[in-house]
Amino acid sequence: MPGAIYAEGLVKTFGDVRALDGVDLDVPEGTVLGLLGPNGAGKTTAVRVLTTLLRPDSGQAVVAGIDVLKNPNEVRRSIGLSGQFAAVDEYLTGRENLRMVGQLYQMSARDAKKRAGQLLERFHLADAADRTAKTYSGGMRRRLDLAAALVVSPPVMFMDEPTTGLDPRNRQQLWEVIQDLVAGGTTLLLTTQYLEEADHLAHDICVIDHGRVIARGTSDQLKARTGGERVEVVVHRGHQIESARSVLAAYGTGEIAVTAHTRKLTVPVTGGARLLAEVIRDLDGRGVEIDDIGLRRPTLDDVFISLTGHAAEQAKNGESGPTEAGATESGPAGSDQDQKEGGR
Ligand SMILES: Nc1ncnc2c1ncn2[C@@H]1O[C@H](COP(=O)(O)OP(=O)(O)O)[C@@H](O)[C@H]1O
Ligand SMILES: [Mg+2]
Repeated sequence: MPGAIYAEGLVKTFGDVRALDGVDLDVPEGTVLGLLGPNGAGKTTAVRVLTTLLRPDSGQAVVAGIDVLKNPNEVRRSIGLSGQFAAVDEYLTGRENLRMVGQLYQMSARDAKKRAGQLLERFHLADAADRTAKTYSGGMRRRLDLAAALVVSPPVMFMDEPTTGLDPRNRQQLWEVIQDLVAGGTTLLLTTQYLEEADHLAHDICVIDHGRVIARGTSDQLKARTGGERVEVVVHRGHQIESARSVLAAYGTGEIAVTAHTRKLTVPVTGGARLLAEVIRDLDGRGVEIDDIGLRRPTLDDVFISLTGHAAEQAKNGESGPTEAGATESGPAGSDQDQKEGGR
């Protein structure tokens, strides 16, 4: 039996861009699928097709047991959508925004009021409930937008990059809210650019690039394919890179990436903190001075490098650039653009 969200062979082109190039998805009821991919991968297009906002050129989709192409209106009644760009009315207060959504869904005024109150509490917006949304920070707007999508507790939810642009504290809060929601039995498709986020929230992960699914599995399976964690070392002097490299070679489970100008070496490992201690002792024994050393989990870039041999491209303004450009310039390592997520 197909899951609560099911798609087969979805294709959507915009001129000569194949935003979706034959995507299949199957999300069992009550689970979370993380749709993971860089800017321009096709995540929003997939969400728009599945939520009836966009017709695919070909393919099929069934959401909550209802055919998306044949019965879009019925689908809309069974889903909640929180978009990539928050859709709140700036001139209404937080409370008014939520009450309005309830009334749009034909709740009684009393129920809408009660539901608004509950959601404002749950999303840590109670203090700001009676201020216009115009005065809210980015994180507050995101939370209000998500609350709006939950007014009617739909069985199937879509969230398009719910935490992009949020600071770590707001992100953490939102994760908690999402976890609560899923514990209540909601089926969720969530898009994200952060492996860490999919790791936290999703049962299964689909990695997409250029409108195609390039890998799927649980986060553990994907991490195993990317070689687990990374040890990252910054040596004090450039001439010590080679000694450090030979030390790391004994511990790594994959290729060592070196960025010479920052004197940084990165190698995939398994074995965690204990192994890190050994690496430190070994480097010390060889007289390699260390400026910085740490263990970090694989990032989206690591996943991309191991799956495709190139770093995730950073498309600007949603325009997909020349498609193969990333492959030629990334070389053996994620060059020097790797710190953009700031680690854990
Ligand atoms: N309405 C549109 N018109 C033209 N091109 C579009 C449109 N929507 C998306 N695209 C293109 O389709 C590709 C996938 O976009 P999108 O689904 O927004 O990716 P993501 O959400 O993963 O960043 C991109 O190359 C994007 O520029
Ligand atoms: Mg998007």
